[in-house]
Amino acid sequence: MVVPQRLITKRSRLGIRRLSAGNIGGFIGSHSREHARCSGNCEGCSRAAPNPAVGGSTSNGHSLNKETARRGFRRLQSVTGVLLLLSSAAGIYLLATDASLWLLAVSHAVGLVIIVLLDLVLGLYSLASAKSAYLPSIAAAFLGFVLQAGDVLTAPQYNMTVSYFARYLFGLWSFDLLLGLQIAIVLVGVAGRPHAKYLARRKTRRGRELDYSRRTFVKAFVGFAGLVGLGAAIGSVKFALPSSASTQTASSSQGGTVQGSVANVNKLQVGTPVYFDYPSGYPNALTKNADGSLTALSILCTHVCCECSFDSAANVFYCPCHGSVFDMSGRVVRGPAVADLPTVQLRVDSSGNVFPTGISNPGPCHP
Ligand code: FES
Repeated sequence: MVVPQRLITKRSRLGIRRLSAGNIGGFIGSHSREHARCSGNCEGCSRAAPNPAVGGSTSNGHSLNKETARRGFRRLQSVTGVLLLLSSAAGIYLLATDASLWLLAVSHAVGLVIIVLLDLVLGLYSLASAKSAYLPSIAAAFLGFVLQAGDVLTAPQYNMTVSYFARYLFGLWSFDLLLGLQIAIVLVGVAGRPHAKYLARRKTRRGRELDYSRRTFVKAFVGFAGLVGLGAAIGSVKFALPSSASTQTASSSQGGTVQGSVANVNKLQVGTPVYFDYPSGYPNALTKNADGSLTALSILCTHVCCECSFDSAANVFYCPCHGSVFDMSGRVVRGPAVADLPTVQLRVDSSGNVFPTGISNPGPCHP
């Protein structure tokens, strides 16, 4: 389509410019400012006659030369370095404040430790203007984003629905900040592509000035993913070790005389819970009350499904992850949990054997 000359003139008088990755890259390199001041004679500007020896340009039509490309790239790396260090700090905060990561999902915690370390090392390298950190930084941030966002899909592994777990995770400001910073690192990296590509084409005596290729990116991405995967696998081995509650279950269960029964009423002591799994893999506590009645509760906290333990001094169930407290009838005494513990329905036979028959209010941690 032919655009009338008077429209082009009007458009440029108004200073309207197309927004693109190249513009942002130009902003990082302050090339736009130079362009605005330029009278047509500055080096590397598209208003000047093109210099075939230079050969680079941003997508908004600006030519790049060695100096502008290097300066722009240095600024890009400074911004990336700061974002990576902030991302690392957000990860450390998350690891330090969310006990459920260590008690419920050790493999995720170890994976996050590796992401934090990668961010830290790459951040320092970027701030030191190490050109080799450019693509690995984008790869690490992209991987971190994918793994963090993909975390919600592991909810069934912890007996939660995906939507419930997503609400919990995205409700953590440090988790959101971590995701936001990782996206920002990727965007800044992509915005600086014209500078990186220019430097990748330039050759120094020792070779290309910057290693910029899809293969390098993929290699960094796969390498980092392998590292995080290895850490998560090591964390899983630790996770598979018997938990304290399983030990409780084994040591304090008082089975009934009939197969399938979890206790016998006549053997229970008032106010002292015994533990049993129902359904298999879901821990519960059975307590005989002073009036002889029985209360059976799931001890998976209704906040994020960590396992509660019984505090005999206060006669409450306490969640070690974020400190929720439930009384002996399962009611919430202190949050962040808002829902009471689910109740296990029971049947008692004529010999006093107790059988679980169902869960009356399953909540987020039961099927
Ligand atoms: S899992 Fe958060 S308080 Fe229990």
